Amino acid sequence: MSSQIDHLLNETRRFAPSADFADNAVATAELYERAAADREGFWADQARDLLHWHKPFTQVLDWSNPPFATWFADGELNVAYNCLDRHVEAGNGDRVALLWEGEPGDSRRVTYAELTEEVKRVANVLTDLGITAGDRVAIYLPMIPEAVAAMLAVARVGAIHSVVFGGFSADSLRSRIDDAGAKLVITADGGYRKGKVSPLKPAVDLALAGRNGGAAQETVEHVLVVRRGGNDVEWTEGRDLWWHDAVPAASPEHEAQGFPAENPLFILYTSGTTGKPKGILHTSGGYLTQTTFTNRVVHDLHPETDVFWCTADIGWVTGHSYVAYGPLANGATQVLYEGTPDMPHPGRWWEIVEKYAVTILYTAPTAIRSFMKIGREVPKKFDLSSLRLLGSVGEPINPEAWMWYRKIIGGKTTPIVDTWWQTETGAIMISALPGVTETKPGAAQVALPGISIDVVDEDGAHVGNGNGGLLVVTEPWPAMLRGIWGDPDRFVETYWDKFRTQGYYFAGDGARLDDDGDVWLMGRVDDVMNVSGHRLSTTEIESALVGNEAVAEAAVVGASDETTGQAVVAFVIVKQSYLSAHSPEGLAGTLRGWVGEQIGPIARPRDVYIVGELPKTRSGKIMRRLLRDVAEGREVGDTTTLADTAVMSVISAQVR
Ligand code: WT7
Repeated sequence: MSSQIDHLLNETRRFAPSADFADNAVATAELYERAAADREGFWADQARDLLHWHKPFTQVLDWSNPPFATWFADGELNVAYNCLDRHVEAGNGDRVALLWEGEPGDSRRVTYAELTEEVKRVANVLTDLGITAGDRVAIYLPMIPEAVAAMLAVARVGAIHSVVFGGFSADSLRSRIDDAGAKLVITADGGYRKGKVSPLKPAVDLALAGRNGGAAQETVEHVLVVRRGGNDVEWTEGRDLWWHDAVPAASPEHEAQGFPAENPLFILYTSGTTGKPKGILHTSGGYLTQTTFTNRVVHDLHPETDVFWCTADIGWVTGHSYVAYGPLANGATQVLYEGTPDMPHPGRWWEIVEKYAVTILYTAPTAIRSFMKIGREVPKKFDLSSLRLLGSVGEPINPEAWMWYRKIIGGKTTPIVDTWWQTETGAIMISALPGVTETKPGAAQVALPGISIDVVDEDGAHVGNGNGGLLVVTEPWPAMLRGIWGDPDRFVETYWDKFRTQGYYFAGDGARLDDDGDVWLMGRVDDVMNVSGHRLSTTEIESALVGNEAVAEAAVVGASDETTGQAVVAFVIVKQSYLSAHSPEGLAGTLRGWVGEQIGPIARPRDVYIVGELPKTRSGKIMRRLLRDVAEGREVGDTTTLADTAVMSVISAQVR
């Protein structure tokens, strides 16, 4: 890590915006001045300019009961109306909203008029199924237009969606359904992934079977199923219904009603430092304001001419803010792709960029690094000249990957925006503004206009330029999380207790300020890993491991990985009886598969080491720092606080 940091700090390349780009850019330097002069007024202006309000707001921020904020609280809006109807009413019904590409090569173009009609029908289906404002609806779908329609329909009736990534297991789905008390699940028979149909409905059936006496079957009344994969599915009469029966039969008339700005919009589960994922709660008016604004100024979105492509799955926050909400509220045309980047060939993404003449591409460093590995010959086969802006999100982007992205994908000319934010922040917080900021490869750089961040020491004091510390948000922001579903105490403890005197939001990231005061992200400072831009908790994987009958104890660390940023590495103590009957390699393989089944394939450890002991302090706390040294092939650091100082040499020897 320290060599990585030195390396970063020696990065001196700079890219000033070209005059051409700056002339047509949405962002202007003046935004910073306006926001600095009157932060709340600035956000109120954005909310009024960018959104339609059924009832205008007179209040902006209420921070009288921190950390519980409200924004635009006496205003009313309908999120789906903002993403759909108003564009049709403005005469843009024929504009394409979604350029959808299925993994097998099938495709659909969905206009704003068509998507609006579909969402109105789905909203009527939801109402018929008894879904009303405040009810929770779980969505477990592949990347198909129906996924976006489902989210918007739930929003339209004022209900709350909880999208669960299709790669999560039945167990993960069940715990999310239970925690939110979902009344309806919207799923598909299956979707295409890696060249074959990956089933979804069977996982829903399993999740609802309540094997462990879960509460899921008690709240879920219906399962609405899209046919996509064509795979056989089981059917529970009275509970299950086909989308293709219910939706076309429903009326295309549906008037969007205004809901209070603080009406909850969605819950999205994300890993924290404990084994239990947190249901991050977002509401409507502030969230939509900041996603719409940032999508415009950070992605330099010109909705009339651009073709925007954010490659994130709707199961992650990026897919919420920059697939479902921001771009649609802006009336943009965007690509939606169902499959993996290498199906059926390694140039699939670039083929899609060429086919749809994508102008703005927003993706994760892990994808860029895997393309780097394959080599420039692949993208070079395609015409990528339509691209004029590139974005990065999800993890720190190393300067090499940044340069490759600009040169090979961006034809040496496109600006790159490295955007820092989190599930909790709801929208982009730190980024260069294209056309305004001189960019630095590897740095997220500056807080957006209207956003206040700092890098502080353990006591909450500003570290000053040239120093490292903890990243904090010092003032409330419109898209901020409003809480953790059902757990206000955990909300306060996790994010606000650490700097309660100052009232700062603690992000969990380490950061450095360079001599210009620009921010360089340095990775998580807690027990949260970032694998391929996806957040995983060490504790969650440890509890999955100890749930296996062979395992006595487990410790998990995130080790740096060339492609995925970090990789899951597990150190496992196996029960004696299993050790004698199985080879360590066999056990390691079984446990990798086990974690994949328990949580989902993304959580599957890269390495499982079967060890005899784990490094613990005298009070019994596992010292993951030392295990990380081993996993990253470094000399093991200070072991003096270990109860048994010899244990690390034993582990190191076992790992070789
Ligand atoms: C964590 C949030 C933001 C949507 C995708 C991930 C890391 C995110 C960057 C960036 C360095 C980044 C942080 C953050 N992260 N963007 N541009 N540079 N690190 O959302 O799953 O909520 O994870 O991702 O560590 O805390 P998430």
